[in-house]
Amino acid sequence: TCDPRESAAAQGGALLSRSGFSFPTNTGPENMKRRKIGLIGAGNIGGELANLAMARQLGDVVLFDIPAKEDFAKGKALDLEQTSTLLGADSSVRGSSNWEDLAGADVLIITAGVPRKPGQSRDDLVGINLPIIQNVAENAKKYCPEAFSIIISNPLDAMVYEYQRRTGFKKEMVAGMAGVLDSARFALFLAREAGVSVKDVRTMVLGGHGDDMVPVLSQCTVNGVPVSQFISQERLDAIVARTRTGGGEIVKLMGTSAYYAPAASAIVMAEAYLNDEKRLLPAAAYLDGQYGYRDFFMGVPVVIGGGGIEQIVEIPLNDDEKKMLEKSAASVQAVVDVVKAKG
Ligand code: APR
Repeated sequence: TCDPRESAAAQGGALLSRSGFSFPTNTGPENMKRRKIGLIGAGNIGGELANLAMARQLGDVVLFDIPAKEDFAKGKALDLEQTSTLLGADSSVRGSSNWEDLAGADVLIITAGVPRKPGQSRDDLVGINLPIIQNVAENAKKYCPEAFSIIISNPLDAMVYEYQRRTGFKKEMVAGMAGVLDSARFALFLAREAGVSVKDVRTMVLGGHGDDMVPVLSQCTVNGVPVSQFISQERLDAIVARTRTGGGEIVKLMGTSAYYAPAASAIVMAEAYLNDEKRLLPAAAYLDGQYGYRDFFMGVPVVIGGGGIEQIVEIPLNDDEKKMLEKSAASVQAVVDVVKAKG
């Protein structure tokens, strides 16, 4: 038979009857639950994550922070939930300092930790943020074993390494957010210089989330047209340099680190997972021989879909880019070694 309704029934989906009235097949209360988005850290990035997750109705949002900041998290959540009535979004937003409220989360986005102050490098944060990530990992392991975890806390590549090691979660269910943000910064600078829409600029920034990250110019296009056709090598070099210190530029201006673009970047990754979009994005993923590296997390192109990190994509790099990646990988390895020694 080729009746599409029967094949839908075989897959357990909702059926559309001949009258056009929709009725459920096996959609019991389990299947009808809204998804749960756990945000660990209710600070600057956490708040903006909650705002975007609510406005885009990714699911019900739990904004978590330490007990000393429980009221703060609850207040922020209430403010955002009241915004939802104006935006017409039905997601609930709750503040909490109780991990039990995160039980069964579909996605966890982790910003717990301290951000940079002017003059600090991301690596300077390892001493403070390592025990915080370890604490978060122990709880995530206990309460959210099914979640797709996206780490934002810095130093990013080492924190995501420790988080996966502590939780023992499947490697494909743990990703670090850096490449999407760095690529967005790179794309903005290129679009402005070339005088083209940000929508048409394709960029890829690989390697660690530090000042020796690798903006891959050889893969950079304006909708397929090499970017070198629009911008001189000299200006491209300046844009690469600005991208590498793009986070620091904002820290210098604001006295703390960026939060709008980091939050939007993690939401792109969360949506790719929740909607099984199979998007090709740069993200920190566990490497097991890809690009010649193994046993750490570093930014590479990945495909994110319902299975988490479904593929790691190896793209051709020129000799310069390979060298830059080597340098960046060495920086990541050095911080991972610190983490291994302390852990
Ligand atoms: N569990 C949950 N939350 C925690 C924990 C913990 N164990 N420890 C600290 N936090 C919370 C802090 O109380 C604070 O509210 O994490 C929050 C961090 O918020 P901000 O200080 O505003 O920092 P933010 O700008 O959001 O950056 C967070 O992301 O980009 C990185 O470098 C940045 O590591 C930093 C992180």
